[in-house]
Amino acid sequence: MADRLALYAGTFDPVTHGHLDILRRALALFDRVTVAVAAGGKQTLFTLDERLALVRACTADLERCVVMPLPGLLVDEVRRSGAVAVVRGIRSLGDYHHEWSMEAMNRALSPECETVFLLARQELAMLSSSLVREVARLGGDVAPFVPAAVAGALRGRLGGGRT
Ligand code: COA
Repeated sequence: MADRLALYAGTFDPVTHGHLDILRRALALFDRVTVAVAAGGKQTLFTLDERLALVRACTADLERCVVMPLPGLLVDEVRRSGAVAVVRGIRSLGDYHHEWSMEAMNRALSPECETVFLLARQELAMLSSSLVREVARLGGDVAPFVPAAVAGALRGRLGGGRT
């Protein structure tokens, strides 16, 4: 049987335990998963190279997973790579509405583009990269929400104390 590749796309500013849980679950469903780190679109705290390095550091123990930048349209990368699906996590109804329109746009651009949605685990469903950044900025402890490499990078960028 053909080897089934999925693309897990996102901004990952920064990557959290929520993203990594979705990635591990995607690896249980597909033969390989490429984490595609979006290059543009949003103002980010970390540069693309920093976000790539953090995702790579946090996935170094995962076999069958590679990390790459996503410079353009997701559907173009799906076509280029031969991926059978895009993977996205859904945490809430708000996410569902957002994902619904992205899925519809991707399908309009490329009718064969299939998206697989995984529901976030309840205990991780409140996590978002922006909340993690805010907690870090205000001197809170982000260790429960992100791997140590990310916590260190946030300290390095935002400082360890209240500002
Ligand atoms: N656990 C924790 N957080 C999660 C999560 C999970 N399982 N799933 C989503 N999130 C959070 C992210 O941390 C992020 O939080 P923030 O906004 O507070 O920082 C938020 O959900 C949105 O996630 P993000 O990865 O930034 O998704 P996005 O909605 O901005 O879409 C792409 C990102 C890469 C999928 C999309 O921009 C894209 O496809 N870009 C390529 C260009 C393109 O094709 N555009 C047309 C798209 S139709």
